[in-house]
Amino acid sequence: MQQEVQFTLNGEAVTCIVDVRKSLLEMLREDFALIGPKEGCDVGECGACSVLIDGQAIDSCIYLAAWVDGKTVTTIEGITNADGSLADIQQAFVDAGAVQCGFCIPGMIISSQQFLKENPHPSRTEVRRALSGNMCRCTGYQKIIEAVELAASEK
Ligand code: FES
Repeated sequence: MQQEVQFTLNGEAVTCIVDVRKSLLEMLREDFALIGPKEGCDVGECGACSVLIDGQAIDSCIYLAAWVDGKTVTTIEGITNADGSLADIQQAFVDAGAVQCGFCIPGMIISSQQFLKENPHPSRTEVRRALSGNMCRCTGYQKIIEAVELAASEK
């Protein structure tokens, strides 16, 4: 069964006809060629597929595409500045040397983006807790946490 979904994707109004069983992650990657959100575990455990829906970070692998009807979706591709330059949180990851293989980074940045909006000056414990749903297969957590702290210190 197919369903039409209309939503805002990275600032643009879009429409897509999707199989009702399709995940949001599949729709983003296959129908919109947005390959920033990654498929890691595909069961809502690793956070590599994180995107913002109405400002909240969610695992797009376990969120049906049909559910975004009428909502606003932001992927890693949508958080750069209007002139194409990196958003502050993205630049902080670069400056802190927090990117190793890069697979988890879109999800880490999406989660960090939402977290810093809610808590602009967090403690290290709060940063760790906020990113506890995002796994890094390189185990590069220290630099990732430092990147979030760097972004917070620049606010
Ligand atoms: Fe979605 Fe792992 S791929 S949480």
